Amino acid sequence: MDMTAVGSRLTLGEGSTPLVPARRLSQQLGLDLYLKTEGANPTGSFKDRGMVVAVERARDAGAVAVVCASTGNTAASAAAYAARAGLRAIVLTPAGAIANAKRAQALAAGARLIEIRGTFDDALRLCRELGERDGYRLVNSVNPDRVEGQKSVVPELLEQLGAIPDVVALPYGGGGNVSAVATGFAEAGVTTRIIVGQAAERATTWASAIRIGEPAHRENVEKLIAAGRVEVVTLSETELRDAWQLIATSEGVFCEPASAAGVAALVQLGVSGGTAVCILTGHGLKDTGAVADPAAEPVEPTLAAVLEAVG
Ligand code: F0G
Repeated sequence: MDMTAVGSRLTLGEGSTPLVPARRLSQQLGLDLYLKTEGANPTGSFKDRGMVVAVERARDAGAVAVVCASTGNTAASAAAYAARAGLRAIVLTPAGAIANAKRAQALAAGARLIEIRGTFDDALRLCRELGERDGYRLVNSVNPDRVEGQKSVVPELLEQLGAIPDVVALPYGGGGNVSAVATGFAEAGVTTRIIVGQAAERATTWASAIRIGEPAHRENVEKLIAAGRVEVVTLSETELRDAWQLIATSEGVFCEPASAAGVAALVQLGVSGGTAVCILTGHGLKDTGAVADPAAEPVEPTLAAVLEAVG
């Protein structure tokens, strides 16, 4: 979906991401599975859909700076759109806990990136305070403009699929995306089973994008669960890693670790039959450190040596 539809002139071309039929995975899981590759957004994650709206509205309201707490992707997205809007971006991240490529993206766009000796939750608390200051605007997903842009993934995937999926699965970190997707379906007048995967080890998970102890949208997510609109699945580190590997090795789709939570949730529940869409929230290039690299010794430049290495 072209974000100019919601009046954005800051657009970098967010949305219109591929819906990839996952043929081999479908066979393995016994359902018709599609992958919505949100890593194809301009800064490599789903955050761009909402950030373009939030930053534009911040600028229109006279803000001079946008502030956010981030495990990396929000930072990269805020930095890019702030640069485009001529605003400062101030980003607080938990020290040493975000993937290098995400840091690089924020720095490249000129953001002021401040590492704090604390968690994402500490960073968000501080940003909420900063956001109260004159000229500063908080652009985390507790800002409703973010959710408004982010929900565009729903009409887009419905149009691409040309049908109503039986299941939609996605990661649950802070819950902004769960809220956005549930809102998107409600507004489309469509009922579907929404399954969200969270890390059991929330505060320390290997999937650094969802290393969030206390989800900001917990209350809303709990309401959605109580209303029977969302199911939460709690995932072990092994389940997350296995699903992430499976997506890449079965389909050639390289997403970042957190993005695999939707697929991991389907696997754990043993969902089968019908059509499922898994929203893969970020690109694998965001977090190449997650890939085990056996770093084998180089071989001699001879066919014999190469054949031996191929095995
Ligand atoms: N997937 C990725 C790749 C993310 O970066 C995030 C959140 C999520 C899933 C979870 O989404 O918080 O709306 O439930 N990343 C935030 C950030 C926290 O700072 O980039 P959620």
